[in-house]
Amino acid sequence: MARPLTATIDLNAILHNYRYAKKLQPTCKAFAVVKSNAYGHGAIEVAKHLDEEVDAFAVAAIEEAMSLREADVKSSIMLLEGVFEAEEWALCEQYGFWAAIENDTQLTWLLDSEAKIEKVFVKLDTGMHRLGTDKNGAKLLVEKLKESGLVGEVLLMTHFACADDLSDITTMEQLTYFEQTRRSIGSIEASVANSAAIMKWSVPEGGWIRPGIMLYGISPFAGLTGQQLGLVPAMTLSSKVISVRSLKQGEKVGYGLSYVAKKDHQLATVAIGYGDGYPRHAQHGAPVKLNGQSGELAGRVSMDMITVKLSNSDQSLEIGQEVVLWGEEVPVEEVAEFAGTIGYELVTRMTSRPNYRYQAFNEIKL
Ligand SMILES: Cc1ncc(COP(=O)(O)O)c(C=O)c1O
Repeated sequence: MARPLTATIDLNAILHNYRYAKKLQPTCKAFAVVKSNAYGHGAIEVAKHLDEEVDAFAVAAIEEAMSLREADVKSSIMLLEGVFEAEEWALCEQYGFWAAIENDTQLTWLLDSEAKIEKVFVKLDTGMHRLGTDKNGAKLLVEKLKESGLVGEVLLMTHFACADDLSDITTMEQLTYFEQTRRSIGSIEASVANSAAIMKWSVPEGGWIRPGIMLYGISPFAGLTGQQLGLVPAMTLSSKVISVRSLKQGEKVGYGLSYVAKKDHQLATVAIGYGDGYPRHAQHGAPVKLNGQSGELAGRVSMDMITVKLSNSDQSLEIGQEVVLWGEEVPVEEVAEFAGTIGYELVTRMTSRPNYRYQAFNEIKL
């Protein structure tokens, strides 16, 4: 016996979405970004399913890369933030990891270590001002890496600050600065595009794209769901009704008694809460599917439970009925909106409490 809470991951949906990214940018190779436990979907399971298909994986840090190698993942793995300590370069050589580089400290550590690295991506700061060096710094890093004889291929990368906002010209400005720098360096492959750029911006031909959120079937754009973009959602989070009661008009529910029934209706208590990853800040009205009908959150989210009601139907509620919190029938992007956040955060903040089930049931059409 266990709490009836399940995160079902459709691994074929992720494969479909990876192929879709490559179809949109057919001249490019593609990383599958599986950092942060594959955005909460389970990095090892996801990477093993995609291992024979992907051009390479990308993670945030070496410990994420190591855990994939230890699980026998064979593809190349790129460290998007590069190394954090000198010793990591030797591990990169040993395990065949690629890495981003953005400062002289990382360069000095590499030169001192004499580690041989297959691909190093020099990170150019084109305006986001989070990681990366400027045009001259990038040129120098490229020159020194090439002179070192330690690196098989040096590439140039950047990251967009506003690619999810199609009305913002910053992406065009960042691309212009990137291409100017690239021309001043000479022949060098590029890596610029995250999911939003892959789907909606014109990115350099060739080189490497870096799809993350789109692999999981989730939209990076406000007001659009993954399915509306042609993606297949990979995670279905579902649980069951564990208690049912009849509320009279005016009765209040949950912590703070913040929900007040406007009329008599049934209320179901469901085994999921913020201790599982459901967002505590979700507001009344957040969508759920309750026994196949449209339902909504009614009452504050507790650690282990939520309370929900049917939106329109007066079907009778019963213990054991299935409740879908998000998935194909309930876009995670819409739930996120009710919690003042984005789909990225909801899936990434999943905890180890739900029962994770891996399936590959969506037929791949690409
Ligand atoms: C450097 C880099 N590239 C690619 C990605 C993937 O971005 P997205 O999930 O928006 O596709 C990320 C994610 O944060 C990133 O930091």
